[in-house]
Amino acid sequence: MTSVLVLNGPNLGRLGVREPEVYGSATLADLTAAATQWGRDLALDVEVRQTDDEAELVGWLHAAVDDRTHVVLNPAAFTHYSYALRDAAAQVTEAGLLLVEVHLSNPLAREAFRHLSVIGPIATGTVAGFGFDSYRLALAAIAARL
Ligand code: DQA
Repeated sequence: MTSVLVLNGPNLGRLGVREPEVYGSATLADLTAAATQWGRDLALDVEVRQTDDEAELVGWLHAAVDDRTHVVLNPAAFTHYSYALRDAAAQVTEAGLLLVEVHLSNPLAREAFRHLSVIGPIATGTVAGFGFDSYRLALAAIAARL
């Protein structure tokens, strides 16, 4: 079975508590359960991780390259300014692997500082604005490309 890492950046461990009017009331555990099941339905072996630590996220992307693992990435606030994460994510797509940027909300419909993604230009594609379904659509896109 093809493995896919679903990586989540800072504050996404606070899903369910953090701004439920923007991000919904479901938790990261709920997202993990849903994404794992969607993976099974698509014959993908999905592993969901979250960290608030930029270095850890960079390390996970390096490992994805070395292990030849496709990635679904919600970079959270790092989306908007982390060149370190951008450079790490670029190595994934440069290696011929798929990297789908996802967002629960639609950053383009929010504050101006969220309108720039430094990840988007090096991603295979982006899905934003559909809540947990952004992840489902990203996994479906990966499965369709294999
Ligand atoms: C987010 C959007 C980002 O702007 C924000 O910093 C997040 C979550 C989303 O999933 O909608 O933490 O990536």
